[in-house]
Amino acid sequence: MIQLKNVHLLISIVLCSAFFISSSCRFSGEEDKKRSLHQSDWPVYGGNKEGNRYSHLTQININNVKKLQVAWIYNSDTSIGFRTGMKSSEMECQPVEVDNILYAVSPTLKLFALHAESGKKIWEFDPFKNTIPKLTYCRGVVYWKNGEDKRILYSAGSTLYAINALTGLPIESFGTSGKIDLHTGLDIHHDVSNLYVAATTPGIIYKNILIIGSAVSEGGDAAPGYIRGFDVISGKLKWVFHTIPEPGEPGYETWPKDANKKVGAANNWSGLTVDEKRGVVYLGTGSPGSDFYGGERAGINLFSDCILALDAASGKLNWYYQIIHHDLWDRDIPCPPNLATIVHEGKRTEVVVQATKDGLIYVLDRDSGKSIFPVEEKKVPSKGLPGEHPWPFQKFPVRPLPFSMQVFNEEDITNISAESHDYVKKIFDSTEHANKFTPPNEKGTLLFGYSGGAEWGGNAIDSEGILFQNTNNGLWKLQMESSAKHLKEMESFPEGQNLYITYCSSCHGKDKKGNGAEIPGLLQTGKHVKENEIDQIIREGRRRMPSFTQFTTGERNAIVHFLLHDQETKSDKSLSAVKQMNDRNKKKTDFPYLPPWRAKVWTKIFDQQGYPGIKPPWGTLNAIDLNSGEYKWRIPLGEFPELTKKGIPVTGTENYGGPIVTDGGLVFIAATRDEKIRAFDQQTGAVVWEFPLPAAGFATPITYEINGKQYLVIAAGGGRGLKSSGIYMAFALP
Ligand code: HEC
Repeated sequence: MIQLKNVHLLISIVLCSAFFISSSCRFSGEEDKKRSLHQSDWPVYGGNKEGNRYSHLTQININNVKKLQVAWIYNSDTSIGFRTGMKSSEMECQPVEVDNILYAVSPTLKLFALHAESGKKIWEFDPFKNTIPKLTYCRGVVYWKNGEDKRILYSAGSTLYAINALTGLPIESFGTSGKIDLHTGLDIHHDVSNLYVAATTPGIIYKNILIIGSAVSEGGDAAPGYIRGFDVISGKLKWVFHTIPEPGEPGYETWPKDANKKVGAANNWSGLTVDEKRGVVYLGTGSPGSDFYGGERAGINLFSDCILALDAASGKLNWYYQIIHHDLWDRDIPCPPNLATIVHEGKRTEVVVQATKDGLIYVLDRDSGKSIFPVEEKKVPSKGLPGEHPWPFQKFPVRPLPFSMQVFNEEDITNISAESHDYVKKIFDSTEHANKFTPPNEKGTLLFGYSGGAEWGGNAIDSEGILFQNTNNGLWKLQMESSAKHLKEMESFPEGQNLYITYCSSCHGKDKKGNGAEIPGLLQTGKHVKENEIDQIIREGRRRMPSFTQFTTGERNAIVHFLLHDQETKSDKSLSAVKQMNDRNKKKTDFPYLPPWRAKVWTKIFDQQGYPGIKPPWGTLNAIDLNSGEYKWRIPLGEFPELTKKGIPVTGTENYGGPIVTDGGLVFIAATRDEKIRAFDQQTGAVVWEFPLPAAGFATPITYEINGKQYLVIAAGGGRGLKSSGIYMAFALP
């Protein structure tokens, strides 16, 4: 630490004398203060506590952005195969940068600190030293300081760590030797210690409280998605907000009696923002468990799918705004709300802005939670599966208009070739698609809103109230089947196979071939993943793969056996694990429970070549004026060069990771499958710079300034079926 301080001082002296005349001596006490007012750092996930991914920096601007070049490269994991034998990995991490140090995580969730000017490593912390990594996502880290006490709080697996920001060592006085278990405070009804609980998006600081949500299972084994405030100094739990209310709490009446003991999720996996002046934390929740069947949860199910305003000091509810009633489509709120100030009908209004998976934007008054623009509640289809209680009304914002597709009609079928069209037309003809709120059924429905409109990358809002939103037009098919019927069929299969078909085939395919894109095939798995690792992947999940905590060791062994030694497996009906599970779930209130209906098909619709099944654009970038609710522009984001060559107009690609906006007149975003990072003219949407990354940048960039030089940094981790890397890349002007 002392060493670091000296270096700091030396740089200060050199700089202060070198730049005395231009008065850009950045390290004196006064300048430090000014700097925090006029932030040149990127100290918080999302840029600032308002979460608007905005920077006032102007050095890189519309006139010189073409000259951007690579400033440094840091490879956070040089073995792309990684220790786990994983061929494909991914980094969704948006770094933070404070006091010239950049903090981020590697594909295997190692936390590291770099000199932000040079990309040279200062320290590294490996949470999984000598163990198999529990690979959850880590979209970013939290920086906190009080005088010389500087900490990074971040999570890996089910553990939240407090690490000394200067040394990389755990803060021993925090929790138990520098860490706390994210299951803490969720066990008010049953033991949750074996359930999947992680925190994939960082929390947010209010005073000395770390407020954090969680990623949990979304099935009958979901842990409750309570919001929690932890003391940053001690790691002690300070408050809990029950997103599934307890008797006597508001919202309890929107569920059947005792649902609070059985139903889980309604979690905030996508992050939060804080209004420090008001002392209010804003966040969005997800759907309740289980995702596609709500027979056990008649009612509108507060506070699932809600924008929540909580008192940041106590966790008490200020107001809620529910966007989906009784969710049957997994329409979780996918990104932190942003705080913005707009001029509405001539009046400056402080608002909270929430973009959704189904392509909508809600603009609410920050104090009252009332919508600024009209929102209609309309009647929607209400005939559901047996035992289901679809809510007959849902919300339809009138303005801004949706930024991604709402329903799929025949004219929306892909037109990139006659073959593609015919291929998708067959799927179209066999399913229902007329209404985005058609309850899941046995015939099958086509719907949007699972992987986009908006996603975890969120959006950026500039100081004028213009919102920049990247979005996907991704079409999915959902088809339900009776669990009982399925279980009966499965009894004729050997145990491992029937478990595989029941729990794994909806993603990995009955033929174990995956989907050719994000879901890996499992035919060759034994070649690069060890048996005990497969066992762990099933138990704990891995990034987009959910965990399966309900299996006994014997059941997991049976699945692993089926995966590795398919042919030799002998039928052992006496041990039929599915039957056992069924028996276990006969008592209705037991937890975990088996929903009587399950997703037989839940898959993204592609054409025969693997391109999206709908007419382009498949991904877009939008600029929306929040003052008026009108669009300024919309352009396709990303390209398949082989299609452009054929004369097809730029299609856009599926994209993950968000934009940032700067006062240099620029919007920066990577996110596309063509592995590029781009800068757009904020006024027109014209591409003004693009650069090929070593692997796709499925992450949100950051920008900061040090010693008068502005940097742009992105994690280029690839994955999602594309090549992977551990590289963080920085750009600056020559
Ligand atoms: C909701 C979709 C989904 C379901 C259901 C699912 N998986 Fe996965 N699985 C994935 C995804 C996505 C990955 C890639 C994870 C990553 O990014 O590391 C994966 C990865 C794996 C891997 C590692 C493959 C490799 O080559 O590294 C194994 C093994 C695996 N899954 C087994 C299973 C088994 C067994 C089941 C059922 C018990 C199952 N999965 C259920 C989506 C799913």
